[in-house]
Amino acid sequence: MRIIVTKDYEEMSRKAANIIAAQVVMKPNSVLGLATGSSPIGAYKLLVEGYKKGDLDFSEITSINLDEYVGLPAYHNQSYAYFMNENLFSHVNIKQENVFLPNGMEADETKECARYDEIIRTLGPIDLQLLGLGENGHIGFNEPDSFFADGTHKVELTESTINANSRLFNSIDEVPRYAYSMGVGSIFRAKHILLIASGQKKAEALRNTVLGLITPEVPASALKLHDNVTIVADEAALSLISALINKDE
Ligand code: GLP
Repeated sequence: MRIIVTKDYEEMSRKAANIIAAQVVMKPNSVLGLATGSSPIGAYKLLVEGYKKGDLDFSEITSINLDEYVGLPAYHNQSYAYFMNENLFSHVNIKQENVFLPNGMEADETKECARYDEIIRTLGPIDLQLLGLGENGHIGFNEPDSFFADGTHKVELTESTINANSRLFNSIDEVPRYAYSMGVGSIFRAKHILLIASGQKKAEALRNTVLGLITPEVPASALKLHDNVTIVADEAALSLISALINKDE
């Protein structure tokens, strides 16, 4: 694991955007695994700026998103499809046919998971997988569990995740209870994984990810087994492990 320490959210976003931009420049037909949440918003904004300046071209890029809430249509303003359009896709020249997310409105869980796994299998491997980090150590919507899920699956969200995500809904009762998520196995098969984290709220999860045991109770801890992981995190998120990180390296 390579850990890049940043001063704050802005610097984290710049460094993460630079890594994603480098991927897009070096391999214009990259398959990107993209994430939602507050963490990547700043990086997406910078990628949009890069596109508008003419530095980035997304015309050959494919994007496969990590997850989607079950029961929210793509036009719902809290769906991840809506989020991706608002924050990135509608502002750059990515082709709509090259954008993939789980379909939260598909009630047949077996069918939807098989469909999404087939997309990942045929379009993958993912060149660069972007990840945020849940306060309980989740990645995508892989919640703490007794095993690491390999492929796409339907997840019952934990109270901690429902509480954390309720800030974006009118009331906690509106937060969906289930989601479709890419599995840890699919994430793991990406060639390069970029995990970003900002703020004190992520400090415990990040400490457990980097220094704790590899356990499905902390889904992100599986990343220690991958040979190409970059963590870009700010000082607050790294506060519980800062003594162990040499910032000059
Ligand atoms: C959600 C998403 C994750 C995201 C996490 C952290 O649960 N499913 O993909 O990484 O929240 O979100 P945030 O970046 O807003 O802290």
